[in-house]
Amino acid sequence: MLEYRNVHKSFDTEAGSLVVIKDFTASIREGEFVVLLGPSGCGKSTLLRITAGLEPPSRGEVLIDGRAPDLHGRHRLGFVFQEPALMPWRDLVSNVTLGLEIRRIAKAERNRQAVEILRLLGLQGFEKYYPHQVSGGMKHRVAIARAYIVDPIILLMDEPFVALDAQTRESLQRDLQDLWQRRKKTVIFVTHNLEEAILLGTRIVVLGKRPATVQMDYEVRLAMPRDPVSREFVDLRHELRGMLA
Ligand SMILES: Nc1ncnc2c1ncn2[C@@H]1O[C@H](COP(=O)(O)OP(=O)(O)O)[C@@H](O)[C@H]1O
Ligand SMILES: [Mg+2]
Repeated sequence: MLEYRNVHKSFDTEAGSLVVIKDFTASIREGEFVVLLGPSGCGKSTLLRITAGLEPPSRGEVLIDGRAPDLHGRHRLGFVFQEPALMPWRDLVSNVTLGLEIRRIAKAERNRQAVEILRLLGLQGFEKYYPHQVSGGMKHRVAIARAYIVDPIILLMDEPFVALDAQTRESLQRDLQDLWQRRKKTVIFVTHNLEEAILLGTRIVVLGKRPATVQMDYEVRLAMPRDPVSREFVDLRHELRGMLA
Protein backbone atom coordinates (compact mmCIF):
# COMPACT_ATOMS: atom_id res chain seq x y z
CA MET A 1 0.00 0.00 0.00
CA LEU A 2 3.02 2.28 0.48
CA GLU A 3 5.56 2.02 -2.30
CA TYR A 4 8.84 3.76 -2.74
CA ARG A 5 10.22 3.41 -6.24
CA ASN A 6 13.79 4.50 -6.77
CA VAL A 7 13.33 7.58 -4.67
CA HIS A 8 16.17 10.01 -5.08
CA LYS A 9 16.61 13.35 -3.38
CA SER A 10 19.28 15.96 -3.69
CA PHE A 11 19.46 19.52 -2.46
CA ASP A 12 21.26 22.37 -4.15
CA THR A 13 23.64 23.90 -1.66
CA GLU A 14 26.45 26.43 -1.89
CA ALA A 15 28.88 23.55 -1.97
CA GLY A 16 27.02 21.97 -4.87
CA SER A 17 24.45 19.25 -5.06
CA LEU A 18 23.97 17.25 -1.86
CA VAL A 19 22.56 13.79 -2.45
CA VAL A 20 20.50 12.82 0.58
CA ILE A 21 18.50 9.82 -0.65
CA LYS A 22 19.70 7.51 -3.33
CA ASP A 23 17.64 4.90 -5.04
CA PHE A 24 15.38 4.12 -2.09
CA THR A 25 13.00 1.31 -2.96
CA ALA A 26 10.69 -0.43 -0.51
CA SER A 27 7.21 -1.78 -0.37
CA ILE A 28 5.28 -1.51 2.87
CA ARG A 29 2.17 -3.49 3.66
CA GLU A 30 -0.82 -2.28 5.57
CA GLY A 31 -0.43 -2.66 9.32
CA GLU A 32 3.34 -2.96 9.36
CA PHE A 33 5.28 -1.11 12.02
CA VAL A 34 8.32 -0.13 10.03
CA VAL A 35 11.30 1.36 11.80
CA LEU A 36 13.67 3.40 9.66
CA LEU A 37 16.96 3.12 11.47
CA GLY A 38 19.90 5.22 10.45
CA PRO A 39 22.58 7.57 11.74
CA SER A 40 21.92 11.24 12.33
CA GLY A 41 21.93 13.28 9.14
CA CYS A 42 21.47 10.31 6.82
CA GLY A 43 18.20 11.55 5.36
CA LYS A 44 15.49 9.98 7.54
CA SER A 45 13.46 13.13 8.10
CA THR A 46 13.75 14.00 4.44
CA LEU A 47 12.35 10.59 3.56
CA LEU A 48 9.41 11.14 5.92
CA ARG A 49 8.72 14.55 4.43
CA ILE A 50 8.70 13.01 0.99
CA THR A 51 6.37 10.26 2.23
CA ALA A 52 3.98 12.91 3.50
CA GLY A 53 4.08 14.85 0.25
CA LEU A 54 5.62 17.82 2.04
CA GLU A 55 8.58 17.66 -0.29
CA PRO A 56 8.84 16.20 -3.78
CA PRO A 57 11.46 13.59 -4.61
CA SER A 58 14.05 14.68 -7.17
CA ARG A 59 13.49 11.44 -9.02
CA GLY A 60 11.43 8.33 -8.48
CA GLU A 61 8.08 8.18 -6.78
CA VAL A 62 6.16 7.43 -3.61
CA LEU A 63 2.77 5.83 -3.97
CA ILE A 64 0.13 5.42 -1.29
CA ASP A 65 -2.46 2.97 -2.54
CA GLY A 66 -1.22 3.65 -6.03
CA ARG A 67 -1.31 7.44 -5.88
CA ALA A 68 1.12 10.23 -5.03
CA PRO A 69 0.83 11.42 -1.40
CA ASP A 70 -1.97 13.92 -1.03
CA LEU A 71 -1.65 15.57 2.34
CA HIS A 72 -4.77 17.69 2.18
CA GLY A 73 -7.07 15.46 0.25
CA ARG A 74 -7.42 11.76 0.04
CA HIS A 75 -4.62 10.64 2.31
CA ARG A 76 -5.08 11.11 5.99
CA LEU A 77 -1.67 11.09 7.56
CA GLY A 78 -0.71 11.35 11.19
CA PHE A 79 2.48 12.99 12.42
CA VAL A 80 4.36 12.75 15.66
CA PHE A 81 7.57 14.73 16.00
CA GLN A 82 10.20 15.15 18.66
CA GLU A 83 8.33 18.14 20.06
CA PRO A 84 4.72 17.49 21.03
CA ALA A 85 3.77 21.08 20.00
CA LEU A 86 0.48 21.20 21.88
CA MET A 87 -1.72 24.27 21.90
CA PRO A 88 -1.22 25.78 25.37
CA TRP A 89 -4.67 27.38 25.51
CA ARG A 90 -6.47 24.11 24.91
CA ASP A 91 -6.94 21.39 27.49
CA LEU A 92 -5.70 17.88 26.70
CA VAL A 93 -9.00 16.65 25.31
CA SER A 94 -9.35 19.54 22.94
CA ASN A 95 -5.73 19.20 21.82
CA VAL A 96 -6.57 15.62 20.85
CA THR A 97 -9.84 16.46 19.10
CA LEU A 98 -8.25 19.00 16.75
CA GLY A 99 -8.11 16.71 13.74
CA LEU A 100 -11.74 15.69 14.26
CA GLU A 101 -12.87 19.31 14.48
CA ILE A 102 -11.29 19.96 11.10
CA ARG A 103 -13.29 17.01 9.82
CA ARG A 104 -16.45 18.46 11.35
CA ILE A 105 -17.18 15.55 13.64
CA ALA A 106 -19.80 16.53 16.23
CA LYS A 107 -18.45 17.66 19.58
CA ALA A 108 -19.94 14.89 21.71
CA GLU A 109 -18.54 12.24 19.40
CA ARG A 110 -15.07 13.74 19.16
CA ASN A 111 -14.87 14.12 22.91
CA ARG A 112 -15.95 10.52 23.35
CA GLN A 113 -13.20 9.34 21.01
CA ALA A 114 -10.58 11.56 22.63
CA VAL A 115 -11.43 10.39 26.15
CA GLU A 116 -11.19 6.79 24.99
CA ILE A 117 -7.80 7.19 23.35
CA LEU A 118 -6.44 9.22 26.28
CA ARG A 119 -7.52 6.37 28.53
CA LEU A 120 -5.65 3.85 26.36
CA LEU A 121 -2.57 6.03 26.75
CA GLY A 122 -2.87 6.22 30.52
CA LEU A 123 -4.21 9.75 30.75
CA GLN A 124 -7.55 9.04 32.32
CA GLY A 125 -8.40 11.84 34.75
CA PHE A 126 -6.18 14.39 33.01
CA GLU A 127 -8.61 15.29 30.23
CA LYS A 128 -9.24 18.81 31.51
CA TYR A 129 -5.64 19.60 32.36
CA TYR A 130 -3.69 22.09 30.29
CA PRO A 131 -0.33 21.29 28.69
CA HIS A 132 1.65 23.35 31.22
CA GLN A 133 0.14 21.28 34.04
CA VAL A 134 1.43 17.92 32.83
CA SER A 135 4.83 16.27 32.36
CA GLY A 136 6.83 15.99 29.15
CA GLY A 137 5.98 12.34 28.80
CA MET A 138 2.28 13.10 29.14
CA LYS A 139 2.50 15.75 26.44
CA HIS A 140 4.02 13.14 24.16
CA ARG A 141 1.10 10.85 24.88
CA VAL A 142 -1.27 13.61 23.89
CA ALA A 143 0.67 14.14 20.64
CA ILE A 144 0.34 10.42 19.89
CA ALA A 145 -3.38 10.50 20.69
CA ARG A 146 -3.86 13.55 18.47
CA ALA A 147 -2.21 11.78 15.54
CA TYR A 148 -3.94 8.47 16.14
CA ILE A 149 -7.46 9.75 16.55
CA VAL A 150 -7.92 10.75 12.91
CA ASP A 151 -7.40 7.11 11.97
CA PRO A 152 -4.53 7.96 9.62
CA ILE A 153 -3.75 5.74 6.68
CA ILE A 154 -0.09 6.07 7.70
CA LEU A 155 1.31 7.30 10.97
CA LEU A 156 4.68 9.03 10.56
CA MET A 157 6.81 9.31 13.67
CA ASP A 158 10.11 11.18 13.53
CA GLU A 159 12.33 10.30 16.52
CA PRO A 160 9.43 11.08 18.85
CA PHE A 161 11.08 9.92 22.07
CA VAL A 162 14.65 11.03 21.52
CA ALA A 163 14.51 13.94 23.98
CA LEU A 164 12.95 11.97 26.85
CA ASP A 165 14.67 10.42 29.84
CA ALA A 166 15.12 6.65 29.68
CA GLN A 167 12.31 5.76 32.04
CA THR A 168 9.73 7.97 30.34
CA ARG A 169 10.86 6.71 26.96
CA GLU A 170 10.41 3.09 27.99
CA SER A 171 6.93 3.65 29.29
CA LEU A 172 5.94 5.52 26.12
CA GLN A 173 7.38 2.79 23.93
CA ARG A 174 5.30 0.24 25.82
CA ASP A 175 2.11 2.25 25.61
CA LEU A 176 2.59 3.06 21.94
CA GLN A 177 3.05 -0.61 21.20
CA ASP A 178 0.01 -1.47 23.25
CA LEU A 179 -2.10 1.05 21.39
CA TRP A 180 -0.78 -0.14 18.06
CA GLN A 181 -1.63 -3.74 18.94
CA ARG A 182 -5.19 -2.73 19.76
CA ARG A 183 -5.62 -0.45 16.78
CA LYS A 184 -3.31 -1.55 14.01
CA LYS A 185 -1.96 1.24 11.86
CA THR A 186 0.72 1.39 9.25
CA VAL A 187 3.52 3.18 11.07
CA ILE A 188 6.79 4.58 9.78
CA PHE A 189 8.88 5.25 12.84
CA VAL A 190 12.26 6.92 12.52
CA THR A 191 15.02 6.41 15.05
CA HIS A 192 18.77 6.17 15.33
CA ASN A 193 18.47 3.83 18.31
CA LEU A 194 18.87 0.11 17.56
CA GLU A 195 17.28 -1.02 20.81
CA GLU A 196 14.21 1.11 20.17
CA ALA A 197 14.02 -0.31 16.65
CA ILE A 198 13.99 -3.90 17.93
CA LEU A 199 11.53 -3.10 20.71
CA LEU A 200 8.94 -1.60 18.39
CA GLY A 201 9.33 -2.71 14.82
CA THR A 202 7.73 -5.56 12.93
CA ARG A 203 10.32 -4.61 10.36
CA ILE A 204 13.54 -2.65 10.49
CA VAL A 205 14.84 -0.90 7.42
CA VAL A 206 18.43 0.08 8.02
CA LEU A 207 19.72 3.11 6.19
CA GLY A 208 23.42 3.74 5.66
CA LYS A 209 25.24 7.02 6.03
CA ARG A 210 24.12 9.77 3.68
CA PRO A 211 22.94 9.31 1.03
CA ALA A 212 20.31 7.07 2.56
CA THR A 213 20.08 3.74 0.81
CA VAL A 214 18.68 0.50 2.16
CA GLN A 215 21.45 -1.47 3.85
CA MET A 216 19.25 -4.10 5.34
CA ASP A 217 15.55 -4.84 5.45
CA TYR A 218 14.82 -7.08 8.41
CA GLU A 219 11.57 -8.68 9.55
CA VAL A 220 11.47 -8.85 13.38
CA ARG A 221 9.68 -11.99 14.45
CA LEU A 222 9.98 -11.69 18.24
CA ALA A 223 6.65 -11.75 20.07
CA MET A 224 5.39 -8.50 21.61
CA PRO A 225 5.86 -7.09 24.15
CA ARG A 226 9.59 -7.60 23.81
CA ASP A 227 11.89 -7.88 26.71
CA PRO A 228 15.21 -6.12 26.11
CA VAL A 229 17.04 -8.40 28.51
CA SER A 230 15.69 -11.62 27.05
CA ARG A 231 18.07 -13.96 25.28
CA GLU A 232 16.42 -13.57 21.84
CA PHE A 233 16.43 -9.80 22.10
CA VAL A 234 20.07 -9.60 23.10
CA ASP A 235 21.06 -12.08 20.40
CA LEU A 236 19.21 -10.15 17.74
CA ARG A 237 20.75 -6.90 18.91
CA HIS A 238 24.23 -8.41 18.61
CA GLU A 239 23.44 -9.81 15.22
CA LEU A 240 22.12 -6.53 13.87
CA ARG A 241 24.89 -4.54 15.46
CA GLY A 242 27.39 -6.83 13.81
CA MET A 243 25.78 -6.31 10.44
CA LEU A 244 25.69 -2.54 10.96
CA ALA A 245 29.32 -2.24 11.90
N1 LIG B 1 16.15 21.82 2.57
C1 LIG B 1 17.42 21.39 2.65
N2 LIG B 1 18.42 22.00 1.97
C2 LIG B 1 19.69 21.55 2.05
N3 LIG B 1 20.08 20.48 2.77
C3 LIG B 1 19.14 19.85 3.47
C4 LIG B 1 17.76 20.24 3.47
N4 LIG B 1 17.06 19.39 4.25
C5 LIG B 1 17.95 18.51 4.73
N5 LIG B 1 19.20 18.77 4.27
C6 LIG B 1 20.41 17.99 4.55
O1 LIG B 1 20.13 16.65 4.24
C7 LIG B 1 20.79 15.78 5.15
C8 LIG B 1 19.78 14.82 5.76
O2 LIG B 1 18.90 15.55 6.60
P1 LIG B 1 17.75 14.82 7.44
O3 LIG B 1 16.83 14.17 6.50
O4 LIG B 1 17.19 15.84 8.35
O5 LIG B 1 18.57 13.72 8.24
P2 LIG B 1 18.15 12.83 9.51
O6 LIG B 1 16.70 13.06 9.77
O7 LIG B 1 18.48 11.43 9.13
O8 LIG B 1 19.01 13.28 10.65
C9 LIG B 1 21.50 16.64 6.16
O9 LIG B 1 22.84 16.74 5.78
C10 LIG B 1 20.78 17.98 6.03
O10 LIG B 1 21.63 19.03 6.35
MG1 LIG C 1 15.75 13.82 11.43
